[in-house]
Amino acid sequence: MTQSIVSREARIRRALEHLRGQTTDEYDEVTPFGPAEFTDPAVAARERDRVFGRVPSIVAHGSELPRAGDFVTLQLPRNRVIVARQRDGGVKAFVNLCRHRGALLEDQEKGRCRLFSCQYHRWSYDLDGSLRTITLDSTFGEVDRSGLGLVELPCEERHGFVWVIDNAEATDIDVAAWLGPEMDGILGEYDLGGHLCFQAEGFDEPVNWKIMQDAFLDGYHVQYAHPNTAGLHIHTNVMAFEDFGRHCRFVVPRKSIDRWLDEDPGDTPLGRYVTETHFLLPNSTLLRQPDHFELLTFRPHPTDPDRSRMEMRLIVRDVAESGLDEQKWRSRWEKNWKILLAVLHAEDFPLLRASQAGLASADAGGMVLGRNEVANQVFHREIGRLLS
Ligand code: FES
Ligand SMILES: [Fe+2]
Repeated sequence: MTQSIVSREARIRRALEHLRGQTTDEYDEVTPFGPAEFTDPAVAARERDRVFGRVPSIVAHGSELPRAGDFVTLQLPRNRVIVARQRDGGVKAFVNLCRHRGALLEDQEKGRCRLFSCQYHRWSYDLDGSLRTITLDSTFGEVDRSGLGLVELPCEERHGFVWVIDNAEATDIDVAAWLGPEMDGILGEYDLGGHLCFQAEGFDEPVNWKIMQDAFLDGYHVQYAHPNTAGLHIHTNVMAFEDFGRHCRFVVPRKSIDRWLDEDPGDTPLGRYVTETHFLLPNSTLLRQPDHFELLTFRPHPTDPDRSRMEMRLIVRDVAESGLDEQKWRSRWEKNWKILLAVLHAEDFPLLRASQAGLASADAGGMVLGRNEVANQVFHREIGRLLS
């Protein structure tokens, strides 16, 4: 714990030095890339199988399904999925499809139930996915019930989040191994499981998921794309960065740190003057703000390279631990949520939609990532590795 606090303060001081010298941490070289990565259906199919079909990614925060029988449904790149809280407190993920004749089993986005009951011929399944009843079974005929449970996907809850590998054939999920010792240790210190998902919302956008993910690892655009919002509070093109191989994180100074530009902060803790961004390969940005977290997740559409779904989650301390009364606590985070939404809808999304439209140009040229775009470099490098 102490070790990481020291190193965090050291990283913040490195960011402050960068700010003073108008420098930033940099990658070794610029990296060229092409428009087909965002438009080619063959690339999109490989990503679904080799990225999402192979590695864990976050589908929910555990507090979104606190009690046995709570469930959420979602479209993953390869499967439509139900995630359900079990009676033993664990979580399981299933393909959202009835094994009789393939009806969509659960059409609600979220809810609570004792069993899953199909609307077509009323077969039912237990929370653990096992087939419970075959309607009018004396007439239906003999079948092996144990082979007709819901198809299960590897699923694990860790660091407060529910992670799924979008592939029933995948070998067992091991989130700690996927995160690696550094990122697993970092997330462990945050006690994300002791937090609450105050609000979660999904946005279906006509934009490739990597265009979206790139924009939320980008410290280079802030004052240009967000001059009157985020750009007022956060410095542009200044990062103290760490590359963990798959995942990475970087500290970006907020403008409130400027009071220390000319003055030596000594031992003053500087955590309140920065935002820390974590990239969790393959598709999430976890923002650590001074008093809360935001999780941004980007998922490809199941068939169309030009579409994706972004999910945003505001993750905060429970009211009981906040020192605020319920009313103040609620209005504070509601206000925070509205600000986040406004920037997304008014500033990021229009820019990214237009970017995707432009990439469809028959003669779109090659493009390039700068040395200063460190987290984007890691994202492109690691997706390339998973695909190769
Ligand atoms: S398709 Fe579900 S019960 Fe027939
Ligand atoms: Fe942005």
